[in-house]
Amino acid sequence: MAGTSKELPNFTSRIAFILVTAGAAVGLGNVWGFPYVAGKNGGGGFMLIYLLALTFVATPVLMAELLLGRMGRASPPTAMRKLQLEARRPEPWSVIMWAGLVGSILILSFYSVIAGQALFYGFEAMVESFHGWTSEEIIAFDAGYKSDIVLMAFWSAVFVGLTALIVSADVTKGIELAGKWLTPVLFVLLVIIVVYSSIYGDMPAALNFLFGFDHLVLTPGVFLEAVGQAFFTISVGVGGIMMYGAYMGNNVNLPKAVTWIVLMDLGVAILAGLAIFPLVFGEGVDAAAGPGLIFITLPIVFAKITGGGIISVLFFVLLAFAAITSSISLLSPTVARLEEAGWKRAHAAWVMSIIAFFLSFLTVLSFNEWSEFYPLAFLGFDGLTAFSLIREGVSNILLPLVGVACAIIVGWRIKKERIMAALPMQETKLFQVWYFCLRFIVPMAITALFINAVFGG
Ligand code: PFF
Repeated sequence: MAGTSKELPNFTSRIAFILVTAGAAVGLGNVWGFPYVAGKNGGGGFMLIYLLALTFVATPVLMAELLLGRMGRASPPTAMRKLQLEARRPEPWSVIMWAGLVGSILILSFYSVIAGQALFYGFEAMVESFHGWTSEEIIAFDAGYKSDIVLMAFWSAVFVGLTALIVSADVTKGIELAGKWLTPVLFVLLVIIVVYSSIYGDMPAALNFLFGFDHLVLTPGVFLEAVGQAFFTISVGVGGIMMYGAYMGNNVNLPKAVTWIVLMDLGVAILAGLAIFPLVFGEGVDAAAGPGLIFITLPIVFAKITGGGIISVLFFVLLAFAAITSSISLLSPTVARLEEAGWKRAHAAWVMSIIAFFLSFLTVLSFNEWSEFYPLAFLGFDGLTAFSLIREGVSNILLPLVGVACAIIVGWRIKKERIMAALPMQETKLFQVWYFCLRFIVPMAITALFINAVFGG
């Protein structure tokens, strides 16, 4: 097997690691996904379940995945293989991360379509401004975009191309530089919009919607969605995080870094809700408008409000920044694996991006030609387009499965002393809680959810 671990570069500082990894976590899931999922599932009740899933299921896995990366110090499949040999276990651990890598390219394929639309809207907001448009014009604009396969493919290609460009460079000059700059800028933009929203929008209604308990919906499906969203939002289960763990260096205090990363991710999700919903409620439009919340509802609001022209530019730039710091983490593990096989970094980055671009047609077509084509209807997945199957299949099935496998490996298959030495950490209360979550809570929660999803109907 190629690839000696010593060649792997390190991020240059702790803060760089935290910003880059938080950048990987903060993405479309926070701005485009979270408000939509929270809205659909009824605000405060969902938030509570989501917080539990984030704290006791997804965060322990985040720490486990970073640790596996630090211990293996190679691309995810290679790192797992090394650790398996070291632990003298018979199971093929690398297979898990190969599945993760497939997931990462699938996510990249639909990510680039949504992010491509954000780029297009940002561009349009800049040159034409949505200000003064009627609702009908905006609805027609969105529908026009979604029916134009060439235009959609073009903007998806721009987005994947930008991703490839950044990943092609050395880790410190590409991934690190992008994360170090874009993540803080994203925060600033978001705070500006939240301040604006609290002045011009209806903040109390937004707070009630996000944190109120008057519209609680409790079904097994909501739990599954909360866990899926929690895994997706902090990027565990596809190898990007493991890769960053390999670049992390040994000077990073893992529990502290993980706390920062999760808090930043949660902070952005909540701030995104507080940026979007006050405006939506202020204008009296439907809050649970689905994915159209970002590309229809918000532009309708932007068209009406004072300063909407500039705010819409800021918003879509923010969305694109959030997406790109995540997409680079989606591309980096496969690129690192190909580098181990002797490929040039740039070559690997472009080849994988082109593959992701071709796969993105599955999503592009789901918005037009295939909008009523349900590929797995014969298996009972009626009503799910290719895009929904990829999005839901990866976040609700693949991510939790890879995540639970990582939890089991760290919790049960590698010796506890080795884990404690690699962290490094004494057997404190914090360690015990984390270890308990990995060994029991994560596997039990995921098993229960799957049993419910299969048999609960
Ligand atoms: N965490 C990203 C989001 O919330 O949009 C999605 C994601 C990025 C998942 C990178 C996985 C990943 F490796």
